[in-house]
Amino acid sequence: MVIILVGGQWGDEGKGKVIDYLAEKADVVIRSQGGNNAGHTVITEHGEFKFQLMPSGILYPECVCIIGNGVVVDPKVLLREISQLRERGIEPKNLIISERAHMVMSYHPLLDQLEEEARGDDRLGTTWRGIGPAYADKVRRIGFRIGDLQKEAFMRKKLAFVVDQVKNPILTKLYGKDAYDWSNMLDEYMGYAKQLDPYIKDTFPIIQDALDRKANILLEGAQATMLDLDFGTYPYVTSSNPTAGGALTGSGIPPTKVDLTIGVFKAYTSRVGYGPFPSELLDEVGDQIRERGHEFGTVTGRPRRIGWFDSAVARYSARLNGIGCAALMRLDILDEQPLLKICTGYDFRGKKFDHPVANISHYKHSMPIYEEMPGWGSDIGAAREWSDLPQRCRDYVERIGELIGVPIELVGTGPRRDQFVTRGRELFD
Ligand code: GDP
Ligand code: IMO
Ligand code: MG
Repeated sequence: MVIILVGGQWGDEGKGKVIDYLAEKADVVIRSQGGNNAGHTVITEHGEFKFQLMPSGILYPECVCIIGNGVVVDPKVLLREISQLRERGIEPKNLIISERAHMVMSYHPLLDQLEEEARGDDRLGTTWRGIGPAYADKVRRIGFRIGDLQKEAFMRKKLAFVVDQVKNPILTKLYGKDAYDWSNMLDEYMGYAKQLDPYIKDTFPIIQDALDRKANILLEGAQATMLDLDFGTYPYVTSSNPTAGGALTGSGIPPTKVDLTIGVFKAYTSRVGYGPFPSELLDEVGDQIRERGHEFGTVTGRPRRIGWFDSAVARYSARLNGIGCAALMRLDILDEQPLLKICTGYDFRGKKFDHPVANISHYKHSMPIYEEMPGWGSDIGAAREWSDLPQRCRDYVERIGELIGVPIELVGTGPRRDQFVTRGRELFD
């Protein structure tokens, strides 16, 4: 069975926790896009893990964890994650990196930062992890793939060209920075090559074999639909396709093999970085939710922007991704709110829209249309069964399911592994 898991809003919905939950029954977990701009939190009895490149199934030793061809891998960051796991007694023997995955090279984070600074007021608020520049080089066909680490002569020739002919002129002439020395870079990357060698494989036969055996395969989405390069709030997006289609090209799984797409949503909305966000709360309610929810970025530590649940966004995500069922996370963060609002659509200069429009300035100036519901005013952290949740809380969940058009099968009631309300449906056979 193949399940795709996607973020339904602007990221940080709690995907890590849902993946960890599903990974218990998964044979294979595959990351298929993004890079170390992602930060996926998993909390177990052994403490908190924040995965950036490492697939969130890595804590299950029997689960094969693949970093797919669509990911951009910063080898330094991946090696740091591997050694952090080792320090905690976990040997990631079950990790495989596709030789087709591209690398974030040392100049990419620097260029990301320099380009952002040059944009001034129009900056995007990227994570400065070099994600955009690495994907741009992939499309420009001057990118380096993980498999290139195993071909020193090829690396030498290509580094000499890319560094001297493409990167150094930009760094020195445009930004007044020091030039890179490609031979030092070669030494550095050959050092990574030695350490990563055991994990680098051709994932085509591995994934095809898993499909043939009807293994349980979970595609772990990073980022989210509204950050999608094509369907998000362009240009305030990431440089990959976090929607279901991207999961397929980023792993090599055919569309005909997908059984279910699960959408992960937060019970309200958050966004890191710039860009339109119609249901944003710029008042003390937003501050209360941010404080109670410790809404500060996993990767950059930046305060996250907070807003009401936007069902126009969620329904757009559900339809774009073909979401079959949803997880609604962090519901407990709303425990103390006396009044809840749900954005159901937008008003742009008297015209109504039921979905985010492509025209970014229209979307930015769209006014949210809200419906209101009373809060439940009690702690739901101990709820495990649907019937444990207060009636008003169930009403809120049901209303969201109705508005977005998909059943909500999982509800997050706290950060810990066991803090879930499930509604009886087995997601993996
Ligand atoms: P991801 O990027 O989608 O994996 O989400 P992040 O890990 O960046 O952020 C989600 C945060 O919410 C993490 O700190 C999780 O530990 C936490 N979390 C996940 N589910 C729940 C939940 O149901 N309730 C609460 N209070 N925290 C949750
Ligand atoms: P997870 O997987 C939230 C945002 C950045 C910025 C924009 C572009 O943890 O949900 P980039 O560095 O990707 O070029 O930045 O995308 N962003 C995320 N926001 N969660 C993420 O990942 C994100 N990954 C990127 O804040 O606005
Ligand atoms: Mg995150």
